[in-house]
Amino acid sequence: MDRFLELAKASLSSRRFHHVLGVVETAKALAARYRLSEEQTEIAAVLHDIYREKSSTELKKMAGEVSLILPDDDPPTWHGPITAARLVMDFGIDDQAIGEAIRFHTIGHPEMGPLAKIIYVADAIEPGRNFFGVDHLRRAAEMDLNLAVAVVADASLAYLIEKQLKMALSTVELRNKMWRLVDGNLRKDYNQGNKIN
Ligand SMILES: [Fe+2]
Ligand SMILES: [Fe+2]
Repeated sequence: MDRFLELAKASLSSRRFHHVLGVVETAKALAARYRLSEEQTEIAAVLHDIYREKSSTELKKMAGEVSLILPDDDPPTWHGPITAARLVMDFGIDDQAIGEAIRFHTIGHPEMGPLAKIIYVADAIEPGRNFFGVDHLRRAAEMDLNLAVAVVADASLAYLIEKQLKMALSTVELRNKMWRLVDGNLRKDYNQGNKIN
């Protein structure tokens, strides 16, 4: 693990490395709460943004080396699938749950499992995040994992709408599915706590 942390430190600006440390801390707390392996969680958190600062030219080359086809129009989302596709080759990690968590951490996916959900949520609520409403998302993360994913996906979609940016269908499908799984009483408790509705 120290080896991967060193690698993250060497590969990223100090601002982004601090974000990674925040995601590690938050993801480990969520893993304890929702009973997931601490080790798997830590590896996924440390590596999730390892290629975030590569240029799109470099990323295209790295994708080509593993025959990965990328959507042409969305370079900021490429680092997840590329890291996932190169996990064995670059880091000697052969673990489906870690791969899935890293692949989907930016846009999410309706079929993602518990580790991927934890990384998706931790990425949005780590202590360095301070956007409006983040405390509501942090509260959701303490209540229920599916609720947390639903409200994080909503916040991400709201941001994309505000900035008039493209949204991935995968994120929309994820939020629809998570809200469907959230029990009505839980939703009510969450909304009352936030004084919405
Ligand atoms: Fe990322
Ligand atoms: Fe991140």
